[in-house]
Amino acid sequence: MTAAGTAPAGTAQIGVTGLAVMGRNLARNFARHGYTVAVHNRSYAKTQSLIEENGDEGAFVPSESMADFVASLERPRKVVIMVKAGGPTDAVISELIPLLDEGDIVIDAGNAHFPDTRRREAELKEHGLHFVGTGVSGGEEGALLGPSIMPGGSRDSYEVLGPILEDISAKVDGTPCCTYVGPDGAGHFVKMVHNGIEYADMQLIAEAYDLLKQGLGASAAEIGEIFRTWNEGDLESFLIEITADVLSHVDAETGQAFVDIVLDQAEQKGTGRWTVQNALDLGVPITGIAEATFARALSGSVPQRAAAAGVLPAETTPFEVTDRDAFIEDVRLALYASKVVAYSQGFDQIAAASAEFGWDIDRGAMARIWRGGCIIRARFLNRITEAYERDAELPLLLADPYFAGAVGNGVGAWRRVVSQAALAGVPTPAFSSSLAYYDGVRAERLPASLIQAQRDFFGAHTYRRTDKDGTFHTEWSGDRAEHTA
Ligand code: 6PG
Repeated sequence: MTAAGTAPAGTAQIGVTGLAVMGRNLARNFARHGYTVAVHNRSYAKTQSLIEENGDEGAFVPSESMADFVASLERPRKVVIMVKAGGPTDAVISELIPLLDEGDIVIDAGNAHFPDTRRREAELKEHGLHFVGTGVSGGEEGALLGPSIMPGGSRDSYEVLGPILEDISAKVDGTPCCTYVGPDGAGHFVKMVHNGIEYADMQLIAEAYDLLKQGLGASAAEIGEIFRTWNEGDLESFLIEITADVLSHVDAETGQAFVDIVLDQAEQKGTGRWTVQNALDLGVPITGIAEATFARALSGSVPQRAAAAGVLPAETTPFEVTDRDAFIEDVRLALYASKVVAYSQGFDQIAAASAEFGWDIDRGAMARIWRGGCIIRARFLNRITEAYERDAELPLLLADPYFAGAVGNGVGAWRRVVSQAALAGVPTPAFSSSLAYYDGVRAERLPASLIQAQRDFFGAHTYRRTDKDGTFHTEWSGDRAEHTA
């Protein structure tokens, strides 16, 4: 193995600038896969500690200056930026541009907002450079051991960069959890939706935990065991697995269940918010993801919660669980059904954006690379991959025969859980909105007809009819005659 710093100049096959944990672990992952890795950090001390602590893992070429870092890379240069999204990323790009040559590739592997990626890709193209915004999911451990990687940018850049990223990505059945997503901001967009689904997944798990806690009076450890059992079936996933682990954890300081001493105010860095904002722009009802995002905001609404506590009448009917196992199974079925809705909505959003921005994203391929490495990795992503293999243009994942059957098998349980929760005063915004979405999307007739009539009444916004083509307006303030608009 080449000792650190001995590789000849201009031979590093990939470079990483920004060596906080994620960047450091990505650099180590590249090195462990036999690549000569150029490494740089604004403070050289971080570069030195990487070499001191992990230099024996492969061929690293440390540089103190950005110029030396760039000079140590082979052509076409491949530079991974792993710094904070926003301004810091723009600053590094500005520093790099004068140092790079035509055909070089700049990769932003942070959680950048996809409009920023589209702007940067266009800017760098003017300099003859490729800009690849890539989602990297799996946290710090994933970055080191194999993340799910969602690269966008030009297909030409993927010809050069793709094989290296596929090498270091997670593998499922020998298949890399990395593939070319689509042009310009497509990769960061898909990562954003991944995070939106992650929010929904986590909220649904939290609601299931709350239902088991309030419905059964079960302890965190008992609920942890239930999740551990669920992780052996259709709900098998990273988030269910870590939930069982977290719920079984005891706080060393108090001896209490860890989850019972954690403050119940969820925070968010912004990717879920971006997902919902974009869905509003595209007109895609990602209700489960939106409710999960807003549930975090509600938990942090301290003044409102303080004002409501003990003041708002509850009028609840306590849970009456006569069959513990049946209740647990109802919650499991409701969790699975609601989870399918969240993924179905997320894939709808990807399809809508793909059409809007001309990205031609292959949703089956996205499901396939999410089977491993990423935070939402789950057994049922195999089923989603298969659904899109059956029909790449599937209009609604929920209506795929497999999922219609799987969810249909739990609809009764879903209704019982949501109604019992409402009667018991247990908030289940994600479970409830997912059931409402399910009933809305399958409804033969919706009350939107009345909304159209109201809009025409007060705003002359016109309406269409069920019995003939065309757009119409009724003279509500006059003789109520109907005219073609
Ligand atoms: C991942 C994670 C990662 C980050 C989350 C946390 O895919 O590896 O999603 O990106 O840990 O974005 O985001 P919040 O602070 O918004 O929960």
